[in-house]
Amino acid sequence: MAVLLTGGTGFIGSHTAVELVQQGRQVVLLDNYSNSQPEVAERIGRIVGRQVPAVEADLLDEAALERVFSDFDIDSVIHFAGFKAVGESVEKPLAYYHNNLTGTVNLLRAMSVHGVKKLVFSSSATVYRADNPVPYREDSPLGAVNPYGWTKVMIEQILRDQAAADPAWAVLLLRYFNPIGAHPSGLIGEDPSGLPNNLVPYVARVAAGLLPKVQVFGADYDTPDGSGVRDYIHVVDLARGHRLALDRLERPDRLGGVEAFNLGTGRGSSVFEVIAAYERACGQKIPCQTVGRRPGDLPVVYADPALARAELGFEARLTLDEMCQDSWRWQRNLSSE
Ligand code: UD1
Repeated sequence: MAVLLTGGTGFIGSHTAVELVQQGRQVVLLDNYSNSQPEVAERIGRIVGRQVPAVEADLLDEAALERVFSDFDIDSVIHFAGFKAVGESVEKPLAYYHNNLTGTVNLLRAMSVHGVKKLVFSSSATVYRADNPVPYREDSPLGAVNPYGWTKVMIEQILRDQAAADPAWAVLLLRYFNPIGAHPSGLIGEDPSGLPNNLVPYVARVAAGLLPKVQVFGADYDTPDGSGVRDYIHVVDLARGHRLALDRLERPDRLGGVEAFNLGTGRGSSVFEVIAAYERACGQKIPCQTVGRRPGDLPVVYADPALARAELGFEARLTLDEMCQDSWRWQRNLSSE
């Protein structure tokens, strides 16, 4: 019996694969390598001490998906695959809706054909409406402000509808806050192609001398130092959350249906705090410059982590300093390749 990881060589998928194999599970990685490299599977193998099967396939290719379910004894799925760049989603909404929604529907159809009904979905804190008070709770109203966010809201709804139609489906929606960091081995991490959109990959490249300075998007927010506050969570903690989610889906007393859980630390850090932590990690000053606010950004976002703690037994353990140290180790390895 194996767990299929769509997007299995991506940032969160690869760390989750390590966690699951180290727990003693079989995994199968599926990826179209649109935003990752086949070499990641080999690196996962080096971390865990054995090769992990990886299949190149696109969720839009129904025949390829069918082959994966026929070739492997798959029992459950963690669905990470999807386009995820907010700005690009505003420019190319149809590409986002087609890829993320059709890909998911194809996946669910293939699962249905093969009687696989356990699914963990890679959702996001972006599904919470912008006017919700912090901390965000799982029962806060949903809504998005860009097509990427809407694909997450819509996929959550598709999964609720499917689980309502067939009560044998058991689905967990994991709503990530801001995943950063990298595996402490330095072998896997985040490596966005082109100019990074997210703060920490950007800071990492500035620290490595690949970009001149960090632009701080707004220092006039109503926050302690004026910069935006987010709930950064180490990707290794996040990966453990997926292991706990799968364990929950397999509990004999769990009867199916859909549950949503926040995966965050419950603590907010400002942009300036992140830059300071990164400076400690890399031992050098990181040049930065305050510029105007980025459209669509909120002042403060952080999770209420209580439900995940109570129901999944999940608690984030790694600190912001550890996140930056691991990110920096990975960035240095990347730069020296
Ligand atoms: C962003 C997405 C969110 C997505 C998440 C994935 C937007 C509006 N939101 O979240 O939908 O799920 O990434 O991780 O894009 N910042 C700077 N300079 C930079 C980059 C960012 O100051 O060069 C600031 C931002 O204003 C924000 C914080 O850093 O306050 C974090 O930004 P980012 O890493 O992009 O994450 P989010 O915007 O929280």
